[in-house]
Amino acid sequence: ALIPVICIDGPTASGKGTVAASVARQLGYHFLDSGALYRITALAATRAGIAIDQAGEQRIADLARGLPVRFEGERIWLGQDDVTEAIRTEEAGMNASRVSALPAVRMALVALQHGFRRLPGLVADGRDMGTVIFPAAPLKVFLTASVECRAERRHKQLISKGISANIFDLRAQLEARDARDQSRAVAPLKPAQDALLLESSALTVEQAVAQVLDWWQARQ
Ligand code: C5P
Repeated sequence: ALIPVICIDGPTASGKGTVAASVARQLGYHFLDSGALYRITALAATRAGIAIDQAGEQRIADLARGLPVRFEGERIWLGQDDVTEAIRTEEAGMNASRVSALPAVRMALVALQHGFRRLPGLVADGRDMGTVIFPAAPLKVFLTASVECRAERRHKQLISKGISANIFDLRAQLEARDARDQSRAVAPLKPAQDALLLESSALTVEQAVAQVLDWWQARQ
């Protein structure tokens, strides 16, 4: 039987996570936040004292393969530790980006990601859901927004969590992370050939969600 997958890929802070989670909720589908897996892997490596570079690649890949990660509603656990907040800092994002450029680590996380594909269906968000992990998915969306817009959204998000942040620093960090994600040799950030582009700068979350659901309806 074919288990449907909706892929939502795009650059940092494009709103993928929020849109994908909402689409999953409305369809009653499972949800994969693949970025969280790279964030957790980077955190596990740092905690194990392994430098995130080529010299540490095999050890980090081994860690990733046996990652004791659990998603429980909104909370994310690494073994006995609730790492929900720890993986959301900009530093954790940058470390995730560095870890995700290591090919052996990407390979180590493939099976874990495929395991999220269960009935009645999956909504997966990330950078390479449509290009590498679920290339046969019936709906692939590439969600973008201007860098100003993304920096502003990320800023609001942090402020609402009580984390202080400078919007100019945030913008520079987003651009640095996107540049790394787009230029890496393995699974670079880019739309799949058959992806539908959704430019969300002028859209609310609800409008972006409605567009994805419309596209999904049209495919049934
Ligand atoms: O989406 P999020 O910002 O949580 O992802 C963190 C980092 O993990 C990204 O900057 C990217 O380098 C990496 N990533 C990836 N492939 C994915 C998801 C995330 O390389 N499918």
